[in-house]
Amino acid sequence: MAIATSLSKPRLSEGMSRLGTESAFEVLVRARELEAAGREIIHLEIGEPDFPTAPHIVEAAAEALRAGWTHYGPPAGLPELRAAVAEDAGRRRGIAIDPSEVVITPGGKPILFFTILALIDRGDEVIYPNPGFPIYESMIDFVGGHAVPYGLREQQDFDVDAGEIIGHVTGRTRLVILNSPNNPTGGVISTEGLARLAKVLAGRELFVLSDEIYSRLIYEGEHASIAQFPGLKERTIILDGFSKTYAMTGWRLGYGIMRPDLAEKVAQLQTNATSCTASFTQIAGIAALRGDQSCVDQMREEFRRRRRVLVEGLNRVPGFRCRQPRGGFCVFPNITGTGLKSKTLADALLNEASVAALSGTAFGAGGEGYLRFSFANSLENIEKALDWVGTWAQKNL
Ligand SMILES: Cc1ncc(COP(=O)(O)O)c(C=O)c1O
Repeated sequence: MAIATSLSKPRLSEGMSRLGTESAFEVLVRARELEAAGREIIHLEIGEPDFPTAPHIVEAAAEALRAGWTHYGPPAGLPELRAAVAEDAGRRRGIAIDPSEVVITPGGKPILFFTILALIDRGDEVIYPNPGFPIYESMIDFVGGHAVPYGLREQQDFDVDAGEIIGHVTGRTRLVILNSPNNPTGGVISTEGLARLAKVLAGRELFVLSDEIYSRLIYEGEHASIAQFPGLKERTIILDGFSKTYAMTGWRLGYGIMRPDLAEKVAQLQTNATSCTASFTQIAGIAALRGDQSCVDQMREEFRRRRRVLVEGLNRVPGFRCRQPRGGFCVFPNITGTGLKSKTLADALLNEASVAALSGTAFGAGGEGYLRFSFANSLENIEKALDWVGTWAQKNL
């Protein structure tokens, strides 16, 4: 019998040709290859807190496993966690949230996936930030929606230009995506910007997906959500979760907050996709929300120290110009003064200076001229990376 030595390419669905990805993972693979070849690499490409999950949360999960939380649960999440999220998220935003408006998912990402699947038909317009989290554009394209980008400008401290977003709204707009604090820029949408947007969007037949996954990592002022504004709560899907706030990226635990009729549909998508979120991680989520919050405060204060060191250091590198991000754990320096394209510079820093960072274009065409460095690494490593980048720049720029 002949043994096939090569397989012909599988015939994939049409949507697959439009599906994007997160190139952060590709940079990590390349960095790991260099490490395997014996090089020391400093990882500033990472998009997750470098802190361990707090012991009381880990203990709650271990206890839950021993107590038998090892079975399927309701698709929308355990009632006690939905109630804890409703209470916590509502109190932090000053709005009343009912547990029926909460859907628990494995990470915050599925909320994005499910919302777009639930709301967007071919040709529907979705307004989204560019530079922005790459999965927005990927998912819009995948379902055949029409992706309409809006900019985030350094001169405006990477706040949104409400007028630009409003100018993009047409009769075909079904969804507007906001992300504050923003990945990759660290920009935070001002309350005035939200108010201006809310005024216009409240009267429209559309939804807002408000990605607030970094809402507890803000360095100046308080977090505000567009859902707080009159007429917007019933039009907003809030995406948030445990990954960044409680350093729980690998646990896969997040949630969406939306009107109950939409929550039912999103839970139905979850039934089809994953059945439910792991039960013992949800018990740990209750411990996270109801327990001591000092782990979040300590992490934020450590990030604040590192942010200052990284920004000051990058501003000393010839050709770099870096603002203080207002939230999240990344900086987004302008590198146009180097005369190099973002991707060329990111590759050179990895291959020649042993510092892994992301090209701004990993976040869409609007990221050209910028790099993203994460400060989810120790002060010691950040200082070393600055030293290596500085030495490389002196030799090469
Ligand atoms: C802006 C933004 N939204 C959503 C997510 C997804 O978070 P999770 O790990 O909870 O799925 C991320 C993760 O990097 C993010 O940066």
